[in-house]
Amino acid sequence: MRHLLSTGDLSRDEALLVLDTAAELAQVGDRSVKKLPTLRGRTVVNLFYEDSTRTRTSFELAAKRLSADVINFSAKGSSVSKGESLKDTALTLQAMGADSVVVRHNASGAAHRLAEWVDGAVLNAGDGTHEHPTQALLDVFTMRERLGRLDGLRVAIVGDVLHSRVARSNVLLLHTLGAEVTLVAPPTLVPVSVHTWPCSVSYDLDAVLPKSDVVMLLRVQAERMHDAFFPSAREYSRRYGLDAERFARMQDDAIVMHPGPMVRGMEISAEVADSTRTTVNEQVTNGVSVRMAVLYLLLGGS
Ligand code: CP
Repeated sequence: MRHLLSTGDLSRDEALLVLDTAAELAQVGDRSVKKLPTLRGRTVVNLFYEDSTRTRTSFELAAKRLSADVINFSAKGSSVSKGESLKDTALTLQAMGADSVVVRHNASGAAHRLAEWVDGAVLNAGDGTHEHPTQALLDVFTMRERLGRLDGLRVAIVGDVLHSRVARSNVLLLHTLGAEVTLVAPPTLVPVSVHTWPCSVSYDLDAVLPKSDVVMLLRVQAERMHDAFFPSAREYSRRYGLDAERFARMQDDAIVMHPGPMVRGMEISAEVADSTRTTVNEQVTNGVSVRMAVLYLLLGGS
């Protein structure tokens, strides 16, 4: 594999190799000196056209823990404002010696286009409403760590599936690894193409909750919405939000996940967000190990 653009490109063995490598590399985070010399002399560019808290910092930390040089490029404050294209921006950074480009862009397909233009490895850090493969890998890593298995795991992905790159990447990866996914959303927030996805669909969260080992909540992505998809935030929260009352109806060992950023009081109540069965912060920690694994495997670390 040369790039990481979609979880749909990963075979079962390749996905498990990433998870197993991440499990080994996680031990680096427990040391007093959190660094390996593996990617010394290599350069990783973080090319971010959209805002990010978790993904950008964790890719930066992952590359630095492997001793790579890191360039953080944000479209804001760059020559993008003067009209420079994604292609010319990427070729400029490549001309300075980038071995790998981590890209986040608001256009679905941007990472695929970039992979046609640059010589180095391209890692998709989120392209529009399309995919976010490292998020799905860290989510699956967290499920395996918490619940000890992936095969046969029943995962409910709840919320704004229509605008979610996290949902698509998770559905493809979880299917490859033998889990059963149910998407739960209002009909207006389900993509028309969902019948081609390897999962089932429900509009009734209360029916799905007691049968789920994992409940993954998605943020309503107001910044991508140009229509009214539900009557009000209150109505959405009442039907699709996870509050303490619904949480109490889940199985005793079931976990709650969220890729972040969370909107407390909308898709998740503060009480549920702070529960020990909610893995939001573990997901962030695991994200560093998973991104170290992906950089290591793609850049041929030794
Ligand atoms: N989950 C995620 O992609 O978060 P950021 O947008 O903060 O990177």
